[in-house]
Amino acid sequence: MKPIIILGIESSCDDTSASVLKDGVMLSNVTANQTIHASYGGVVPELASRAHQQNIIPVVHEALKQANVNKCDLSAVAFTRGPGLLGSLLVGASFAKGMCHALQIPLLDVNHLQAHVLAHFISQGKETEHMPTYPFLCLLVSGGNSQIVLAKGYDDMQVIGQTIDDAAGEAFDKCAKVMGLPYPGGPHIDRLASQGNPKAFVLNKPQIPDFNYSFSGLKTSFLYLLRDKILENPSFVEENMADLCASLQYTIIEILMSKLRKAAKELNINQIAVAGGVSANSALRQALHDHAQKFGWKVFIPPFEFTTDNAAMIAITGYFKYQNHDFCSFDKVPFSRVTNKF
Ligand code: KG4
Repeated sequence: MKPIIILGIESSCDDTSASVLKDGVMLSNVTANQTIHASYGGVVPELASRAHQQNIIPVVHEALKQANVNKCDLSAVAFTRGPGLLGSLLVGASFAKGMCHALQIPLLDVNHLQAHVLAHFISQGKETEHMPTYPFLCLLVSGGNSQIVLAKGYDDMQVIGQTIDDAAGEAFDKCAKVMGLPYPGGPHIDRLASQGNPKAFVLNKPQIPDFNYSFSGLKTSFLYLLRDKILENPSFVEENMADLCASLQYTIIEILMSKLRKAAKELNINQIAVAGGVSANSALRQALHDHAQKFGWKVFIPPFEFTTDNAAMIAITGYFKYQNHDFCSFDKVPFSRVTNKF
């Protein structure tokens, strides 16, 4: 039987990525990061879409080359349709449409958040791979999203809880910024926290119903703590950096895990997956392992390259859609906003 070869394209935010998958096995996954945003302390949408335009051809070219696949052998092209920055999405969508039109092959539209969850199914052709089975819960935590997703099938996912304000990654990044750490601050906080006392400072935990999250109160409480302490001692942040990072990280992880525990208990599901950039956090990974021991959870943490934005997750979602003949018409346009079902 002819293999199914999918080219995936991801351009929802500031990473331009292309990946080739053959029958669900990854052959390449190439990403161009945009360093230009670091000096602005966050992603500048206009600069991101311009950089995507510059990056997309070389990135796709390199992904095909590394996979040793000729574009004429592609079965279909999958692209991120949303949510994300509209200008960035338009670059990937237009490129994918043009390529499918020229090659006369089907187009597959992919929801970025659904793809983060399905990243757990990317095969690298190893024997030891362990993947969740449906139904499972996925804690999706990134710079733009904090959600608990109930996955019942590749095309049957429901957001059962989400942040009502900031995302967890945003809380890491914004608090890092007020401490003078570079953007993105999450990895710096993670590194510094390992030398600090997580109980040194007590920060606000939100009391909101259901499985939803809120991080803006924590951010404000952190800001006020610094403001008051700096009045007493101008070197407070420098002198207490490790303890501040450890306390902040501890509180964010506590908030994330308490709602995840609640969801797992109430829905009686013990397969727990994690996705998104924040899943690189060492304390979150440790907390998941501890919960696995304590509550009998089966925990799924994807390899690092599949936690952040990448095109392999777009290609695997496209692969499932292709098998289901779930193609996209050429008049479908990108969307920027998060939806509750995907
Ligand atoms: O999924 P992702 O790569 O893309 C966006 O949502 O844009 O997530 C990026 C987020 C940033 O907020 C970054 O600070 C956070 O993931 N992050 C971390 C760690 N590594 C990345 N947060 C905490 N600890 C980390 N080790």
